[in-house]
Amino acid sequence: MTLSPRTPAPQPGPDGDGTAAAPFGLYLHVPFCASRCGYCDFNTYTPGELGSRLGPDSYLEAVAVEVALAAEATATALGELPEVNTIFVGGGTPSMLGHEGLSHVMDLVRGHFTLRPGAEVTTESNPESTSPAFFAGLLQAGYTRVSLGMQSAAPHVLKVLERRHTPGRAVAAAREAAAAGFEHLNLDVIYGTPGEEDRDLQATLEAILDTPVDHVSAYSLIVEDGTAMARKVAKGQLPAPDEDVLARRYRMIDDTLRAAGMDWYEVSNWARPGGACAHNLGYWRGGNWWGIGPGAHSHLDGRRFFNVKHPGRYNDMLGAGELPIAGEETLDADARHMEDVMLRLRLAEGLPEHLIADDAAGVVASHLQRGLLRRSTDTRGVVHLVLTDAGRLLADGIVTDILAAE
Ligand SMILES: C[S@@+](CC[C@H](N)C(=O)[O-])C[C@H]1O[C@@H](n2cnc3c(N)ncnc32)[C@H](O)[C@@H]1O
Ligand code: SF4
Repeated sequence: MTLSPRTPAPQPGPDGDGTAAAPFGLYLHVPFCASRCGYCDFNTYTPGELGSRLGPDSYLEAVAVEVALAAEATATALGELPEVNTIFVGGGTPSMLGHEGLSHVMDLVRGHFTLRPGAEVTTESNPESTSPAFFAGLLQAGYTRVSLGMQSAAPHVLKVLERRHTPGRAVAAAREAAAAGFEHLNLDVIYGTPGEEDRDLQATLEAILDTPVDHVSAYSLIVEDGTAMARKVAKGQLPAPDEDVLARRYRMIDDTLRAAGMDWYEVSNWARPGGACAHNLGYWRGGNWWGIGPGAHSHLDGRRFFNVKHPGRYNDMLGAGELPIAGEETLDADARHMEDVMLRLRLAEGLPEHLIADDAAGVVASHLQRGLLRRSTDTRGVVHLVLTDAGRLLADGIVTDILAAE
């Protein structure tokens, strides 16, 4: 397999030191869903939107080609092929490939990349397309972690979100995965959905804590432009999420999970000790990754690439032996700095203070004084700025203030 002359291999980015030592992740995007949830604007398609020609079989054929080309291009860009620290199969609905399809994906990856011993291998799954046999098959194939979209334990909230599963199915799926042998399990929650009451969220948290999961991701509902939910909000058929309610619900989540032994390690993510998602930490710490699949993004040492979004174009380009890259950009020092502040300040480990320009010292001092930030010194003596409990509720504003002052 060679790179098409029309698709030059990505060159090392500005951060590159010619070694492949930095942690390296693979993301694989599965662009299929049985139906589209009204709030979701991810790059995913229902069978009716794609037709039978663009189903999982032709997608897996295209992925096979991209995995081979990605290994070649990564080795060229980084000087050697790095070992893979983490794999994340996301979507869309990866569980629609079944454990056989997800196992095939792992075979394809292993055919071209070497996994570091103990590598974290996650797949997202929708509760309604899982079963005990599915989880057993995943474990057999080398997956180490499963992330399930639960969203809520309240049937009326799931209805507003247009989810296909019952609340009971998400909890049962988490238990089945644990029974199959998975030690690392996540449940995704959405809070602030119109019609959700505090007691609905409390019931959701209680249901989660009644499962063996070691990780929770909780996102406030975002009304994304162009979605069915945005149209309902615009017509007044649904109220927009209320900021005060969102803040109160965030505190409920944080208090309840922390009391149960799950601490935050990123503003929207909580884990038991050892349960943090290494793959996502790689993104937030500015690591390298290759994204496979329609619309997937990649980052190699300060250079960004993104794939064509539509599965038809994706298949066509790979069918012609071409990397399906739609565009790329080199992040200049300012852009990389902005990303560092935006992503690393949201982590519990915080942002090294020396990365912040002197011009922002006044803003930082004011946030320290108001109790929104605190200083923490790591084992190497590096001072980090860390969001306090109150600061986490205002994370976006604090980031904006710092960047505006620099
Ligand atoms: C895009 S989905 C992919 C995984 C899987 N299909 C599912 O729905 O669980 C990943 C997570 O993103 C979150 N999400 C997607 N759109 C969102 C939105 N508009 N607001 C808040 N969270 C959202 C949901 O919690 C969802 O579980
Ligand atoms: S199942 Fe997940 S990816 Fe698919 S539409 Fe719903 S939230 Fe989006």
